[in-house]
Amino acid sequence: MAGLIPQHFIDELLARVDIVEVVGDRVSLKRSGSNHHARCPFHNERTPSFTVSSTKQFYHCFGCGAHGTAIRFLMEYDGMEFREAVAHLADVVGLAIPEEAQDAGPGEDHQGVYRVLSHATELYRGWLRQDGQRAVDYLKGRGISGETAQRYALGFAPPGWENLLRASDDRDALKAAGLVIDRGDNRVYDRFRDRLMFPIRDRRGRVIAFGGRVLGDGEPKYLNSPETAVFHKGHELYGLYELLQRERNPEAVVVVEGYMDVIALAEAGVDHAVATLGTATSVRQVERLFRVTKDLVFCFDGDEAGRQAAWRALENVLPAMREGRQARFLFLPEGDDPDSLVQRAGGAGFEQAMAGAQPLSDFLVARLSEQVDLTSMDGRARLLDHALPLLRRLPADIYRHMLIERIAGMGRVGTEYLEGVVDGQERDASRERPATTARREPTLRRTSVRLAIALLLQQPSLGADVAEPASLREIDLPGVGLLADMVEIARKQPNIPAGALLERFRGSEHESALWRLATWDHMVPESGQQAEFLDALARLEAIRRDQRLQYLYDRLQRGQITNEELAEWNRLLQGASR
Ligand code: GTP
Ligand code: MN
Repeated sequence: MAGLIPQHFIDELLARVDIVEVVGDRVSLKRSGSNHHARCPFHNERTPSFTVSSTKQFYHCFGCGAHGTAIRFLMEYDGMEFREAVAHLADVVGLAIPEEAQDAGPGEDHQGVYRVLSHATELYRGWLRQDGQRAVDYLKGRGISGETAQRYALGFAPPGWENLLRASDDRDALKAAGLVIDRGDNRVYDRFRDRLMFPIRDRRGRVIAFGGRVLGDGEPKYLNSPETAVFHKGHELYGLYELLQRERNPEAVVVVEGYMDVIALAEAGVDHAVATLGTATSVRQVERLFRVTKDLVFCFDGDEAGRQAAWRALENVLPAMREGRQARFLFLPEGDDPDSLVQRAGGAGFEQAMAGAQPLSDFLVARLSEQVDLTSMDGRARLLDHALPLLRRLPADIYRHMLIERIAGMGRVGTEYLEGVVDGQERDASRERPATTARREPTLRRTSVRLAIALLLQQPSLGADVAEPASLREIDLPGVGLLADMVEIARKQPNIPAGALLERFRGSEHESALWRLATWDHMVPESGQQAEFLDALARLEAIRRDQRLQYLYDRLQRGQITNEELAEWNRLLQGASR
């Protein structure tokens, strides 16, 4: 298998590539200043909110939040793998991929893993036909036809510890694919035994994992492949590939919980269902689904557990909600799951139930108002309190505006006021908000930490001037740790492009905050940025000193201060009065 591509190579590559060319080759861009605009290629829109910045070397869509470097763009737009995108760009700018990362050709890594997974799928299917009578009977008993079994490539793993092992000669690949379990003492055995097998396929139709169900009762009922190099449970959706084979842009997609729900629905002609793999629906899964449809219906049990699961899904749907997209929640009668409902009511009955699904905003509002007494002022204040973190997850868009309007009405406050609170601004009654900031980019409150991070993102070389990032970490303020991390990277590589700096934080808890800051219009002119950055750091240093003084003073009051601390206190006091 190929080695990792070293970080320094990626940084260098991104420093040489021009993202405007990469994107411009594929999307028609209009120039304005150092930015280029276009209608976003990742969602449908009439007015352009997709920006490509040549100075920062990244793209960002204010509409759908898509963002990234040239590498990410190729992955998202051309559907390339990471390594493939890197190789492609390296080719464009004439860089050679370092040898240690090279031995497999571009896009070829994990070949062995894909190969055994595909081989296993065929074996399982063969075993279902040849000696899977019990499994076939089981499927029949649940009303599944041979045609549906074939469409979803269902199979059977027979009883026994070495069926797969004996049929394959690539033991390492079997292990890497999660198909066998290594007991450690060099004894290896099949993971899936005596189970009905559901292959999980990726976007391109390659099998990346399996789910296996016991025939009848037994524990565990379902067994899934472990996380592997090619399988990340929280990213995948069971049935999505099969669905897209039928219909590239389905009107609606139903998200259910179980493999068998997807299969039973397909059997009944409702073939636009997908399942999460035993986890809560992730933001990433939601984004992926919204790229193929405008209408998502989440299906849950009607009991309290189902409502809680729906609420967790709702939280992850919010960041993807915007005008033109619809998310609805369907709560099934108690004791039903989609499988049992469709068995009883048929495909048409299920579609009918779907038509009555509750829009996200209704579910949200109902659930919030259940928890408080709206007739009291206290209750209304608590409603707004509970609503704030949810509203903040929404992109600034008409959809958010409408929801804010509705919740403001329930809380009996002005929409403008609530909007200001959601954006984290104190309202300034003497000044009207300029109309231009209203729609897309919410204005951020200017704090020293935010400003320092934003400036650093614009010009990473500023980090070279920072003497001692470690002391930043001592400050008790949100975001300082992140700032210190960024300064450390920028000190080592002052020439890192902003896009590459951002890329380092992809997938981290800071990602979305960073992108907001990267695209924040802080209005500091280029010529004043260095001074402004140093000022912000000086203000932070003053805060650090004050916090330290406060701490030492507390120790002094309690008689716990050591001699060294006392000396430090004196030094700090003198420094402060200078
Ligand atoms: P059937 O009993 O075959 O109808 O299953 P179901 O699809 O109704 O399953 P259920 O509602 O019990 O669970 C929904 C999903 O949760 C399944 O499809 C699995 O992905 C997952 N799941 C259920 N049971 C287990 C288990 O025992 N272990 C693991 N890892 N996942 C499970
Ligand atoms: Mn079921």
